[in-house]
Amino acid sequence: MEKIAFLGLGSMGRPMARRLLAAGHELTVWNRTAAKADLLAQDGAKVALTPAEAVRDADVVITMLADPEAGHAVVDAMAPALRPGTHLIDMSSIGPRAFAEVAAKLPAGVTAIDAPVLGSVDRAATGQLVLFVGGDPGPVQAILDQFGRVTRCGGPGAGSALKIVVITSVIVGVTAVAEAVKLADTYGLPEDLVRAALANSPVGGVTARAFAEGVHYPIRLAAKDVALAMASTELPLADAVHAQLTRLADSEQDLGKVVEQLRRVAV
Ligand SMILES: NC(=O)c1ccc[n+]([C@@H]2O[C@H](COP(=O)([O-])OP(=O)(O)OC[C@H]3O[C@@H](n4cnc5c(N)ncnc54)[C@H](OP(=O)(O)O)[C@@H]3O)[C@@H](O)[C@H]2O)c1
Repeated sequence: MEKIAFLGLGSMGRPMARRLLAAGHELTVWNRTAAKADLLAQDGAKVALTPAEAVRDADVVITMLADPEAGHAVVDAMAPALRPGTHLIDMSSIGPRAFAEVAAKLPAGVTAIDAPVLGSVDRAATGQLVLFVGGDPGPVQAILDQFGRVTRCGGPGAGSALKIVVITSVIVGVTAVAEAVKLADTYGLPEDLVRAALANSPVGGVTARAFAEGVHYPIRLAAKDVALAMASTELPLADAVHAQLTRLADSEQDLGKVVEQLRRVAV
């Protein structure tokens, strides 16, 4: 089995790295906040002190980082230590532009694919994510299969692009459900009735996401994803949603909590 390095052990990275350990992979991990990496040492991971140390002997490097800034910081730190022949799988949601910038910093002989995911921490733990892959997943298919189902999207960056397209529409949809619930409050409609009616309407999918449990996709990351979309073209609806998300009181709560938080915003 290949030696794997996993960098970025946040809410998503930790359960994903645990799946690789459970499958018997030799895994070296690194995280900016070291305490999160130490949690994985208990499961058998080797803990590296720097990104360079993590990737030095790796055949495959996986990154699962918050945003473009994190992607740049980590690639800058690890690039000098990458060996030719190493495969990088960037699973962070950073959009196609930042993925291209990160990939351009890799030394010759290192290949990169983008494989951002749809699905939250529950599916990360059970290996049921949807992976949007840009580039050729062939050499690392067996590893990707540990995380979920691969959708091939085209050349490098296409996975990152499709991820931003899909997640932006999900975020806009969840925010629309939140406003619908707020509107229903003003009419004095019972919440159960409203939720059932929305669930059985064409917005059923985003309604289910708005009230999902066992998920943790912080509003702060949703605002980041919408901002990535807005940086690519004019999107008035996404723009309005971004303004809503960034004025909410608690950006660490799951996206679904937009419903409760918007309800509390004074009219
Ligand atoms: N949560 C979800 O449901 C979900 C679902 C699908 C996709 N995603 C995407 O997957 C990615 C990870 O999400 P997550 O929920 O795991 O986020 P998270 O819990 O906030 O973890 C983010 C990770 O990035 C690291 N990081 C942030 N800034 C950094 C920097 N400047 N330098 C180095 N490392 C840095 C964090 O390190 P520290 O621990 O030191 O902060 C942490 O390891 C994001 O792009 C997100 O949009 C999330």
